[in-house]
Amino acid sequence: MSDYKELKKSYEEKVKKATERFPERKEKFETSSGIEIKRVYTPEDIENLDYVKDLSFPAEYPFTRGVQPTMYRSRFWTMRQYAGFATAEESNKRYKYLLQQGTMGLSVAFDLPTQIGYDSDNIMAKGEVGKVGVAIDSLKDMEILFDGIPLDKVSTSMTINATAAFLLAMYLIVAEKQGISFDKVSGTIQNDILKEYIARGTYIYPPEPSLRIISNIFEFCSNHVPKWNTISISGYHIREAGSTAVQEVAFTLADGITYVEEAIKAGLDVDKFAPRLSFFFNAHNNFFEEIAKFRAARRMWAKIMKERFKAKNPKSLMLRFHTQTGGSTLTAQQPENNIVRVTLQALAAVLGGTQSLHTNSMDEALALPTEKSVRIALRTQQIIAYESGVGNTVDPLAGSYYIENLTNEIEKKAFEYIEKIDKMGGMLKAIESGYVQREIAESAYNYQKAIESGEQIVVGVNKFTIEEDKKDLEILKINEEVEKKQVEKLKKLKQERDNSLVKDRLTSLKKAASGRDNLMPYILDCVRAYCTLGEMADTLREVFGEYQDTVSL
Ligand code: 3HC
Repeated sequence: MSDYKELKKSYEEKVKKATERFPERKEKFETSSGIEIKRVYTPEDIENLDYVKDLSFPAEYPFTRGVQPTMYRSRFWTMRQYAGFATAEESNKRYKYLLQQGTMGLSVAFDLPTQIGYDSDNIMAKGEVGKVGVAIDSLKDMEILFDGIPLDKVSTSMTINATAAFLLAMYLIVAEKQGISFDKVSGTIQNDILKEYIARGTYIYPPEPSLRIISNIFEFCSNHVPKWNTISISGYHIREAGSTAVQEVAFTLADGITYVEEAIKAGLDVDKFAPRLSFFFNAHNNFFEEIAKFRAARRMWAKIMKERFKAKNPKSLMLRFHTQTGGSTLTAQQPENNIVRVTLQALAAVLGGTQSLHTNSMDEALALPTEKSVRIALRTQQIIAYESGVGNTVDPLAGSYYIENLTNEIEKKAFEYIEKIDKMGGMLKAIESGYVQREIAESAYNYQKAIESGEQIVVGVNKFTIEEDKKDLEILKINEEVEKKQVEKLKKLKQERDNSLVKDRLTSLKKAASGRDNLMPYILDCVRAYCTLGEMADTLREVFGEYQDTVSL
């Protein structure tokens, strides 16, 4: 018998003996996606692995090992902390604090009224102004938000979807007022409406006009704002809604396929807009599954863009992504434990080759982060970057029997979902039928059941609990005056601006929306005239109507 076979036999005997005394903890070990985890992985588990076809080199198709030739040896991932609350003045202060502490990029959190197109004085905004993000009603607030921050020196991500075109326009006009041309401005808008229908909920318009606006942004930016990432196709919120890792990849890439199809249908050249598509994933708890998930996603997207869309530009084939550590994995109990969870999740993102990273703060299961908790979250990234050494070689886990086998398994299962969605007529139909939402809800239910049964341990929550008194834990409180301040600012703005110009600009926007023109130039003119976000959003509501979620789970 070969040495290998003899060794394997001897090992199996040892396992039998050892488990008589110490039975294994579980009958079956599985990842979040239900992929069985073997006791030990060996060359047998990657015997069909072809280095050139399946892995290749970093920055070479299919990009499994990363999108840059040297990755973090030349430039660390962008440490980009999601932040924003209350008024533009308060958020501007937080951005300056973060930049001073070493963040390498900004990431704006907007309040819900801004995200769904209501001004702060709208009855629909009551009680929400400045709560989960910064309140932005007009270009005036945007000028304050970036006061003293040169927009040619920093890249800014904006988590904005239904109203993304308006906020992008405001950002560009702030740059224009700083004397910076559009082609020098870099950043990202999330602009991913499909996941809003699936999981996050900040949608306004029905799919057809929403997808038109997104294609308008692709076209406008590919011509005028070449360094702008026009969309951040998000799996984060799909995972936060309870999906598995495989579903997160599958549904996110299926959304991506829809955006590419729609843009091509709108007459855009795939190699013109695809290089500026970007992605956004979750870094959840199952360490190796998360690393394998990122590597599988990169290889899948490369194949989809090359084989399905015949993209030629290598940059069209590269999946560049931002990661945020798990929100739903944070616990309110023993909040300091979250620093450890976030560290492991951040490490998984780095070993998976992320381009940009947000680390959650230990208190975010309770409130928006304090300066202290956000500093610890940022220091977590800096310690991984500067002290752990994991960034000193590219894709260090490549070749691991487990990682490569798991990368293959995730890719296989995710493509099975995509094939199923294709058979349904595409992602929009799959969403409208409720299929995607039901798949996620079922995974969420199973995960919650596992926690309640104790099969899934959450330290501090269903095991290792303590009686704790959080009264001395500092929590960020949003000043109740914010709403009043915003309403006063709006009133003053409407007295000072040229209201006949505003009316004229909104009428032009409405006319363009009823036609087929690219809306961006009209929106830029509205912003220059200090039309408010709500006025612009309402103008499009008059033409497009509003999406009604009729899906029943
Ligand atoms: N060698 C050579 N060049 C390198 C390099 C290397 N090793 N590393 C980086 N570069 C280059 C890049 O090519 C790029 O240049 P280019 O623009 O000319 O191509 C430049 O350096 C900057 O690098 P990246 O583009 O990799 O990094 P960025 O940080 O600028 O962009 C991104 C990353 C993922 C592409 C971008 O889309 C991004 O920043 N996304 C962030 C999204 C985000 O923050 N979302 C927050 C969501 S929070 C949310 O949803 C709210 C709640 O509900 C969770």
